[in-house]
Amino acid sequence: MSKKDVVVLLGAGSIGQAIARRVGAGKHVVLADLKQDNAERSAKILEDAGFETSTISTDLGSKDSILKLIEHALTFGEVKNLINAAGVSPSQASVQDILRVDLYGTAVLLEEFGKIIGENGSGVVISSQSGHRLGALPEEQNEQLAASPVEELLNLPFIKSINDTLKAYQYSKRCNVLRVMFEATRWGKRNATINSISPGIIITPLANDELHGPRAEGYLKMLRLCPAGRAGTPDEVGDLAEFLMSSRGRWISGSDFLIDGGTTASYWYGDLQYLKATH
Ligand SMILES: NC(=O)c1ccc[n+]([C@@H]2O[C@H](COP(=O)([O-])OP(=O)(O)OC[C@H]3O[C@@H](n4cnc5c(N)ncnc54)[C@H](O)[C@@H]3O)[C@@H](O)[C@H]2O)c1
Repeated sequence: MSKKDVVVLLGAGSIGQAIARRVGAGKHVVLADLKQDNAERSAKILEDAGFETSTISTDLGSKDSILKLIEHALTFGEVKNLINAAGVSPSQASVQDILRVDLYGTAVLLEEFGKIIGENGSGVVISSQSGHRLGALPEEQNEQLAASPVEELLNLPFIKSINDTLKAYQYSKRCNVLRVMFEATRWGKRNATINSISPGIIITPLANDELHGPRAEGYLKMLRLCPAGRAGTPDEVGDLAEFLMSSRGRWISGSDFLIDGGTTASYWYGDLQYLKATH
């Protein structure tokens, strides 16, 4: 089999697929997901649109599973792009699962792919606007989230004491952004970039769970009042990711990009300030 540049997408949902379509032409696209069905469904759509793909079942919350994903990807060629669009939301999972998958898993993924990412490679991690709703953390906590050895992350006292799913999600997403900063310094030694994107509400199956979950009413009001007055689409996130992963984005690394129709601005300084009492 002839070797190709490889794109690895973890989390073959709507946002991940939109990004893979923009960066995967002419490459081999590995579609990895906890649910093999999701990976295969995305593979069928991408194959029918001219992309070369393979699928593998991968659990972001397991280091062994991530190492198997890397082994699988390297059989097709050098990994040039990593897209982490896997995750679980506050309405979908327990505190422990959110922290294991979104916080710990993402940190392991960045560390392990940072060891094999190809020259001029690039990666994006999908974080969330949710991480921007935590106030500033003490410098010591920032540093611990950014740079602690991965196996120590879930034992940090302020992480261990989290007992609600929204807080677990917010800390996980804040950790993603800090971890991207830390890893950018290591990825840079391989001439590769890594950035995070923090979307607001993007209409996907995950967001639809939230829009029909216990917090639905709040979400709809938030969309009405945010500066853009609507939710975003996976393709809008895809366009931003494409720029960051393209040759035009080579001077951007270790950064986080909010793409939320102005929701976070309004949360802190506009019509959405009422949310501060509840989030
Ligand atoms: N949709 C939104 O409004 C929104 C907003 C902000 C951030 N995000 C983030 O975007 C990312 C992608 O979500 P989406 O909206 O495309 O949802 P989605 O449901 O379309 O995709 C998520 C995918 O992740 C997979 N997944 C779940 N747990 C996994 C695990 N342990 N290992 C591997 N794969 C796993 C799911 O099977 C699913 O295919 C998530 O990290 C989410 O937190 C989404």
